Amino acid sequence: MDHHRLLQRPAGLKQPPAIIPPVSHIHQLPDLLISQIAAGEVVERPASVLKELVENSLDAGATRIDVQLEEGGVRLIRIADDGRGIERDDLPLALARHATSKIASLDDLERVASYGFRGEALASIASVARVTLTTRTAADSHAWRLRSEGGSAEPAALAAGTVVEVADLYYNTPARRKFLKSENTEYAHCAEALRRIALGRPDVAFSLMHNRTVKLRLPAGKPEQRLREIFGEEFIAHCRDVDVTAGDVRLTGYAALPAYSRSGRDEQYFFVNGRFVRDKLLSHAAREAYADVLHGLRHPAYALFLSLDPAGVDVNVHPAKTEVRFRDSRGIHQFVFHALTRALATPLAGAGAMTQAAAAVPPAPAPSAPYRPSFQQGRLDVREPTPTAAYLDFARGAFPAAPRNDASPRGGEPPAGGAATPSTGASAGAPPLGYALAQLHGIYILAQNEAGLVLVDMHAGHERILYEKLKNAIDAGPPPTQVLLVPALIAVSETDAAVAADNAEALAGIGFEIAAAGPRELAVRAVPALLAGGDVPALVRALLAELREHPASRVVEARRNELLATMACHGAVRARRALTPPEMNALLRDMEATERADQCNHGRPTWVQLSMAELDRLFMRGK
Ligand SMILES: Nc1ncnc2c1ncn2[C@@H]1O[C@H](COP(=O)(O)OP(=O)(O)O)[C@@H](O)[C@H]1O
Ligand SMILES: [Mg+2]
Repeated sequence: MDHHRLLQRPAGLKQPPAIIPPVSHIHQLPDLLISQIAAGEVVERPASVLKELVENSLDAGATRIDVQLEEGGVRLIRIADDGRGIERDDLPLALARHATSKIASLDDLERVASYGFRGEALASIASVARVTLTTRTAADSHAWRLRSEGGSAEPAALAAGTVVEVADLYYNTPARRKFLKSENTEYAHCAEALRRIALGRPDVAFSLMHNRTVKLRLPAGKPEQRLREIFGEEFIAHCRDVDVTAGDVRLTGYAALPAYSRSGRDEQYFFVNGRFVRDKLLSHAAREAYADVLHGLRHPAYALFLSLDPAGVDVNVHPAKTEVRFRDSRGIHQFVFHALTRALATPLAGAGAMTQAAAAVPPAPAPSAPYRPSFQQGRLDVREPTPTAAYLDFARGAFPAAPRNDASPRGGEPPAGGAATPSTGASAGAPPLGYALAQLHGIYILAQNEAGLVLVDMHAGHERILYEKLKNAIDAGPPPTQVLLVPALIAVSETDAAVAADNAEALAGIGFEIAAAGPRELAVRAVPALLAGGDVPALVRALLAELREHPASRVVEARRNELLATMACHGAVRARRALTPPEMNALLRDMEATERADQCNHGRPTWVQLSMAELDRLFMRGK
């Protein structure tokens, strides 16, 4: 019986989609097809072509790279660089698969320092688009041009470097072309790809044109300058610089303070040895570092550069090379977490905040000033404030109901003769947050510093101070507690009574001694000394509410900090409480000395600076 006849279908019926491949013998795929398959991974869209080509230019030592796009990069991507060029004899190899000048052995691969090394980008691109290479090395008397569609190298005109033109992306693979989005979307991806690379290479000049319009012009310069051009002024005004080294691992860059948080992850840039990566481990470390200061629904913004021995990181995980694998992943996680935590916690006076704090930092702290923290070579040296009655009351959150007008000299007050309104351009020893002028509606403290006016949210500022103090106290061991002369009796629900009993140990760990006084009554015998002056029943109820939601068996650090935040919020000075000038100044000095005092526990800012220039602008002075 003839099987073929049996398998034949009646005329007129269409062949169903083949599930079993029509060819059953094993055979080698043709090179073009292999490249087209590889292109699926490397050449996802115009932006990925742009990335590969710009990285090639950087590998060639370019100092300026000009990118021209037409129709979102689909019609044309043209990259011109001033790099070392390609020798004529190497030209055909540049377009061949697995041909590279960057590595030669496994050993090279393990410590690769160039962006490229797989030798497949140009071949992949050439398999799905029309590629033209024009190039000239320093030794050549003229340039050479090679087209991917065929033919040999021919003489061309070019001063130096290399021009790569990629036209009609996916012209021969219409199925892929369908996946492309609108011209504007593809352009946006291209621009983002270039911004990323440019962020990592401020030493190189870049330009970007789309449909003959200049979109971006980035001269070579300092990292700060590049950051400003790419992230904008606002980010700069709200960021800390990071520079931490441990052994041969170093983290540098910029991390925005929580006040600049985003609703998306669009401003999170991590670079590993100069290469932009999306890495779960690194973003997790960053998220953890921000967890303490940022509301859970907000996303931090940062541009961070991790450098380490290339042998300690595998970049050959994915053809696009945006994933990496660290040899010591735990160590890297810890390092990044701690480096960032430290940067975010840097107190005002020593901060590297580029505008806000910098404007307020005095050039050299006078050694005699009683409250000033100083920051030397990354080590924080906070001098203990001289305790005064007002200060201690203040630190405990206990405030007099009415302003006290005793003008006895205190550590937090302006220097003698300076009064409460030192003249503009005060001495170099003036504290960063200045001296209090007045209180506004019982909510804000107005202070004058060298730069101009400082507005402080007094509750938020105090809350932050208490939070850090509580944390430090508890980190150092069981916190100092204050036994109440008369235990505070609190009426609670049966559930809360049970919650208190179940969590007695956790509560003791943060300074509370609470026992049942009846089925619906608790007796609070001791509280953390820092909070002794506060509203104890309200504080305990808030804590129980927290513990009800989250079982205490999990009072790990993160949970503990949430409890501390609740405590700080309750312990902090309430709005509408009148403060005396010494109390206000004590708060300002305490904020300067406290880690992260420029953000409250909810990630809101605790103070803002209005410079004289900004005030002048409001009144159109000097116009
Ligand atoms: N802009 C350029 N300037 C100089 N040489 C280049 C340039 N682009 C590509 N090349 C050469 O072509 C080779 C192949 O490039 P590519 O396919 O991207 O592979 P890879 O970058 O992994 O080596 C490179 O190794 C390099 O020698
Ligand atoms: Mg390459």
